[in-house]
Amino acid sequence: MAKDVIVALDFKSARETYDFLDLFQGEKPFIKIGMELFYAEGPAIVREIKRRGHKIFLDLKLHDIPNTVEKAMRVLSSLNADMCNLHAAGTRAMMSAAIKGLTREDGTRPLLIAVTQLTSTDEAALKNELLVGASMEETVKSYALNAKQAGLDGVVCSPLEAGKVHETCGKNFLTVTPGVRFAGGDAGDQKRIATPDKARELGSDYIVVGRPITAAEDPAGAYERCIKEFLRK
Ligand code: C5P
Repeated sequence: MAKDVIVALDFKSARETYDFLDLFQGEKPFIKIGMELFYAEGPAIVREIKRRGHKIFLDLKLHDIPNTVEKAMRVLSSLNADMCNLHAAGTRAMMSAAIKGLTREDGTRPLLIAVTQLTSTDEAALKNELLVGASMEETVKSYALNAKQAGLDGVVCSPLEAGKVHETCGKNFLTVTPGVRFAGGDAGDQKRIATPDKARELGSDYIVVGRPITAAEDPAGAYERCIKEFLRK
């Protein structure tokens, strides 16, 4: 199974993004584009970063009625994204429609990953606002199984949950894990963190790394360090 480091480009503009990518001489990191950059720059930024030879995870977390999600996914697939995502809360019907929309005429499609519960949702909000009676762990496991049954490839989760997800959904079900920090690094607003080395040990398939690379003095060096620790290269 392909394991990789995905660099989260949480930048506001195309200019900032390209200046950052120019720092990687010869390297072509797998890139995550989120809502801020996509809404600011539109599909053109995806096309340009693909043209430069990077793989792209489009982190747009779709959640709507199945018909709308199917059509939106068809557009994202035509941009040649390599990985897309959605909210498992949209139900299995929505997730199956998403797979249909993503699948190209030649049968290929980007990987599709589900968000189970956002890490910003805590047990209290789950119970008191969303009126979900089951625990967070039960909810995450159940949503992950729904995603698997709908034909998705994996889920976004903390590295600390990767083992549980693999236990529940099988080792080939992908775990894409943010919340990665170097030993002794600044955690920032992330709470449940692991080093790249620990994430590998815990079975993460892809680590998503933002500030430890984007805010580093030497981003290319920090990326190399992630690759070395995570892929043991
Ligand atoms: O800078 P940092 O390494 O914390 O960036 C992590 C990236 O992963 C950000 O783009 C953040 O939005 C994203 N993410 C996350 N936790 C989730 C889902 C996505 O940190 N549960």
